[in-house]
Amino acid sequence: MILAELLALKRTDDAGLVGQLTHQLRALMAGGRIRSGAVLPSSRSLSAELDVSRNTVTHAYEQLAAEGYLRVAARRRPVVADDIGERFAKAASKTAPAPRREAVRKPSLSPWALRLSDTDWPLSYQADFRPLRPGLADAREFPHEIWARCLRRSALRRRFNEQTVINRPSLREALRDYLEVNRGVRAEADQILILPTAQAALTLIAATAIVPGDAVWTEDPGYPGAAAAFRAAGANVVGVRLDNCGMMRMREARPPKLIFTTPSHQHPTGRVMPVARRTELLTAAEPGKTWIVEDDYDGEFHYDSRPMPALQGLDREGRVLYVGTFAKAMTADIRLGYLVVPASLARTMEIAQRHLGLIASVHVQEALASFMADGHFLAHIRRTRRIYRSRRDHLAAALTRHLSEVLVAEVPPGGMQLVARLKHGTTDRDVVSRLGAAGVEVRALSSLAVERPRDHGLLLGFAAWREAEIGAAVRIMANALAGKRAVRG
Ligand SMILES: Cc1ncc(COP(=O)(O)O)c(C=O)c1O
Repeated sequence: MILAELLALKRTDDAGLVGQLTHQLRALMAGGRIRSGAVLPSSRSLSAELDVSRNTVTHAYEQLAAEGYLRVAARRRPVVADDIGERFAKAASKTAPAPRREAVRKPSLSPWALRLSDTDWPLSYQADFRPLRPGLADAREFPHEIWARCLRRSALRRRFNEQTVINRPSLREALRDYLEVNRGVRAEADQILILPTAQAALTLIAATAIVPGDAVWTEDPGYPGAAAAFRAAGANVVGVRLDNCGMMRMREARPPKLIFTTPSHQHPTGRVMPVARRTELLTAAEPGKTWIVEDDYDGEFHYDSRPMPALQGLDREGRVLYVGTFAKAMTADIRLGYLVVPASLARTMEIAQRHLGLIASVHVQEALASFMADGHFLAHIRRTRRIYRSRRDHLAAALTRHLSEVLVAEVPPGGMQLVARLKHGTTDRDVVSRLGAAGVEVRALSSLAVERPRDHGLLLGFAAWREAEIGAAVRIMANALAGKRAVRG
């Protein structure tokens, strides 16, 4: 029996995919179609067969385990509990006491929470990361001693009654100066919100901009955290295809409520959006109607020429919200991001920020302000820029040397990762699992598709990995892929 054939999920059903799957599996067990001791498919294979996210299946399995129908264990397929027949015999008999459902039933969820569990984000990465996981900065290169001194000084400084100032002026000013000089961002300090992550900025924007049903355009393939935040708010997310200049404008379409873009380095391809395309994008966004969200997540890392200034600096009409993170320029452990909003939105956004409690530690904000004011931030970026550039070149050369039969690397002018397209119509997910088994962690380009996956390739990180680690990983890849060609399914 193929379980997927017994299940029918509808994306439009109000119960949500998790709710439907849980209900249908429960009913199959109740009806005796699935018996005690039966081993169910892994969440990975059932999600592939049903074409839903792996989270959807995992949540349904967890719910049924909490209700006592399934036994689940890490890295094991779930097993239907032994006493399941008895449980249903009792439930069916009129004399049986009512099941204590209140002990096991989850409270009903909001549409927002149901939509969240239906997204593919956060991406399912293993906890122990390995070369060549993309998107990471190298924490080993971070000046921990200097940072510890800044933190210590900040923690020891006595402050009283300052809890109303959630965005620290010292950090706002340091960031304003940095962003103006280095990224061409034009803003006053009070337009800058300090947040725990860039993702917090996206959630805050979604909460303040999106009415269910609003159209949101996002790059396709693109950053899944953004699509997830806007979908959870009820947006109708439309993937916009890319050309060499990044996001292509949809000339014939009505302007959407919001456009999400990564013009400095398109995520994941690394392409830089030239100025003409930026102007076109701004023109497509009607002032007062369309919000443009510019995510400049790794804009510090340009290797081949001076960086192109931010789109925000070109905007004269207050349409652009500029998102940044310290996760790439410093390390992800810092847990700080920021959002630069148009002056007309500054008060509303700060009130929303406070309501959502997206407030970063004062100690860490003040520590970062002095780390920046004393020049350590710029020094760290200059140093890592050199290191990451040479790692990018090393990875590109190693791929050409060992894997040119199988893939074509696209060398980006900046950023922390590169895309390698697969030759020979190979399915990227197969390649990713084969490489994972061999000890190399990469991401399938198709997993970043917003609509139907059209691009097959690998996303390979270089910034976080030393040249010896990159060399070893590419040799493992070459052995794992030598002579084997998966066929696209
Ligand atoms: C395009 C893009 N935006 C934002 C982020 C997330 O930053 P944060 O960890 O601060 O939420 C990432 C992280 O990988 C990213 O790739």
